[in-house]
Formats: sequence, structure tokens, C-alpha cells
Amino acid sequence: MKKKLIVGNWKMNGSLAANASLVQALRAGMAEGTACGVALAVPAPYLAQIQSLCAGSRIDLAAQDVSQHEAGAFTGEVSAAMLRDFGVRYVLVGHSERRQFHGESDATVAAKAQRALAAGITPIVCVGETLAEREAGQTEAVVRRQLAAVIHANGRCISEVVVAYEPVWAIGTGKTASPAQAQEVHAALRSQLAAATAHAEAMLLLYGGSMNAANAAQLLAEQDIDGGLVGGASLKASDFLSIIAAAQSKASRS
Ligand code: PGA
Repeated sequence: MKKKLIVGNWKMNGSLAANASLVQALRAGMAEGTACGVALAVPAPYLAQIQSLCAGSRIDLAAQDVSQHEAGAFTGEVSAAMLRDFGVRYVLVGHSERRQFHGESDATVAAKAQRALAAGITPIVCVGETLAEREAGQTEAVVRRQLAAVIHANGRCISEVVVAYEPVWAIGTGKTASPAQAQEVHAALRSQLAAATAHAEAMLLLYGGSMNAANAAQLLAEQDIDGGLVGGASLKASDFLSIIAAAQSKASRS
């Protein structure tokens, strides 16, 4: 049985004090034998703090971005090897806020995924359409194009990545894709992956975009939704714990 994966994306939020109380509350609230994966994608300066706060717990460390370059004269960038030094297990690549506000192209996102894989870190590749693209009937074409770049760059290693479908219009807006809308896109992504790898069924496809304590169970009940990438609701321990609890009670097929 495939375990669900719930990843909190803190974005540019947090402080030493706030992080400590949030992680303590999560550790205290997570049931013994938690039967789903849990990770926190935290701002880079807090990786060391969260690594030590999560030591000995079931919470994995994730980063929010990684450089496409290996090392050298790239002021402000953080390399995959540096993330590895802090025990990072997952890294988000191609989050829509990176694509939108930092000009990341499909090729850049694919290169970042490659760097992560080469360092032994699992990239969580984010794809998703804007409202205008959805209204123009281009949803599937957009997410397929975004994923195709990563498949092309990574060949057979593609089975090592996690994919997160995050409709841009649902991020931080309180508008969630309906379970049926999300499932439809997830099924399309799964079939695209199946054409590239024999392991597509075992891969984790997360949904993100205003997932919260109230809607998580329904979304996670869909056949191809293997977890969540949670922004706003991951900053409140009680909300994030409810989402984790919802994930535990659902098991994906295969
Ligand atoms: P949200 O963000 O849950 O606040 O909509 C999700 C994300 O951007 O990963």
C-alpha cells in the first residue's frame, strides 16, 4: 500500500521563535506510528534549526528551491550539495511563485530537478495552469508541457521525482480545485508518466492549492491524489495536523 505524503510549504514565513513552537506542536500532535510521510519546506536560513528540531521525529526536511548550478559564482544561490549537508530529503522545484516572479522556465525547472536527483534529494516538481489557461481549455496542455521538460531531462530517473499539481488560481486564494477537477489532471499526469516509466503507479502525485483541514479528506480520497502540498494551512499546527490525520486514514491504490 502506498503511503500518502503531506508537505508543508512555509514560503517566506517564520522566525526562530515561531518555528520552534510550530514544530514542537506538530511533534506533540502527530500520532504514534503516523502512517503517512510528512515534510516541511522551510526557508533556507532555517534549515539547520528545523533539522535539529525534527531530529528523531517522523518529519522530513524539505527546501523550497535549489540552484540549477553545481557550485561557484552564483551569488545568492543555494546548491543541492548544501541542502544535502543539512539532511534535506525533498526540494520544491518550479513552484508557480518561482515561475511567475523569478522567471523560471520549464528548462530551468528541469535542470533544477536534475541537480537535486544527482545530490540524492527528491525533487517535488510543481506544475499548474493559470486561470486564463484553464478558461481557455489549456489546462492539460500546460501541465503536460511543464512535466514533459522534466521527463525529457531526467530519462529513467523520472520515477524518482514527486509531482505536485498546483493550479495557480487555487494557490493562496481559498479557491480549491474540486476533487473531480484535481483527479482529472492527476490522471492525465499519471498517464504521461506511465509512457516514460514502468513505475508511474508507485509515484506520488500531490495536490496543492488552498488545501485545508476541511477539504483535505475529500481531495485525498481521489484515486490519483497521493498527498498534499500545503501552504497557508501548514503554518497553523492544528490545521496541518488535521490534514496529516486525513492523509493517514486514506491509502492510495497500489
Ligand atoms: P496554499 O499554497 O495552500 O496557501 O494555497 C500552496 C502552495 O503554494 O504550495
